[in-house]
Amino acid sequence: MCASEALVDGGSGTRFPVATPWMRPGQRMTGFVIRFDGQVYGYLNECRHVPTELDWQEGEFFDHSGLYLICATHGAAYEPESGHCVAGPCRGARLTVLQVAEQGGMIYWFPDEKIHAPTPEQGE
Ligand code: FES
Repeated sequence: MCASEALVDGGSGTRFPVATPWMRPGQRMTGFVIRFDGQVYGYLNECRHVPTELDWQEGEFFDHSGLYLICATHGAAYEPESGHCVAGPCRGARLTVLQVAEQGGMIYWFPDEKIHAPTPEQGE
């Protein structure tokens, strides 16, 4: 997905295109990776309140404190290490986790049968 050095703790995330079974025709969806407390985490970029992207500017997921991921639409706050919503209209819900790993100075995403890279027809 990106080089390790691209992800600063509590800083900007890196977005990447994904495909899901619930995508509408012509819809583009993204996942993202962020770093928190030294660890890298990956999630589907879709709020659990209304299915819209989270970032308030492209790649900006953290609130001003750098402690929570925040939804730009209605302000839901998610724990970066678990994806659990701890405040806002979807409190108790959880972001969809993407399997990511950091190795050799790079961040990798491991697609599964549900969430994978888009096909050329899906816009990638
Ligand atoms: S769409 Fe994210 S909190 Fe409403």
